Amino acid sequence: MIYYEDNFLPEDQFLALKKKVESKYEPIEARELFDDYNFKNEPDKFILPIARSGDWLDSCVPQAYECIPALEKMEATMKRLGVQELKNWSSWFQYSVDTMSLPVHRDQAVRKSEPKDTYTAVIYTSDWEPNWGGEFVVGKPVFDRPGGNVKSLTDFTHKIEPKPNRLTIWSREEWHMVNALTVNDPDYVRSFFGTSWSSIESDKFDKDQNPYERFYFTEISQHTDSF
Ligand SMILES: [Fe+2]
Repeated sequence: MIYYEDNFLPEDQFLALKKKVESKYEPIEARELFDDYNFKNEPDKFILPIARSGDWLDSCVPQAYECIPALEKMEATMKRLGVQELKNWSSWFQYSVDTMSLPVHRDQAVRKSEPKDTYTAVIYTSDWEPNWGGEFVVGKPVFDRPGGNVKSLTDFTHKIEPKPNRLTIWSREEWHMVNALTVNDPDYVRSFFGTSWSSIESDKFDKDQNPYERFYFTEISQHTDSF
């Protein structure tokens, strides 16, 4: 499932969230991410207190009150879309700088939800103009061999521009990537407020899935047993 909505928050709430996200940025160097398919080579993030209770307020209070309207409206939007038994898993601010991209991957499912029942919801907080790159691209994965690693995307279904105050939600069976930034400004920072959510549980899992491996590159998660 892919969903997006523009002008998601009222302007005053959006500007407060944007200011908060920008306040946690620390300068980063442009670099390749996920080389050698190493999921530990993560994008640069500021992770809010983890809401393992499932209640997103635990992420927002007392450090980030500016996130409350965003989380409230994200949850309402997913419920309106028919997602059941929602529980927040984590919330974070994420950054990339000019020339950086995000190679093809899927996000790790959480708790006992299958990938199709785990969701990522983000609100882009940086400025954006056509030709700046950084679009969120969804499509069909191409693997380097049967059972191997993903190497590219084909048959694109979505190319979502990271416009400010645009909400984007995807379920975690979706293979995606982020196009390289082409702003040609060393001071430009692409940023968003990110959140993850479990929904209905599957009988397949008798314990929570590995919460520390946040990305994977194969058809089936190979590391579920390692934790
Ligand atoms: Fe992702």
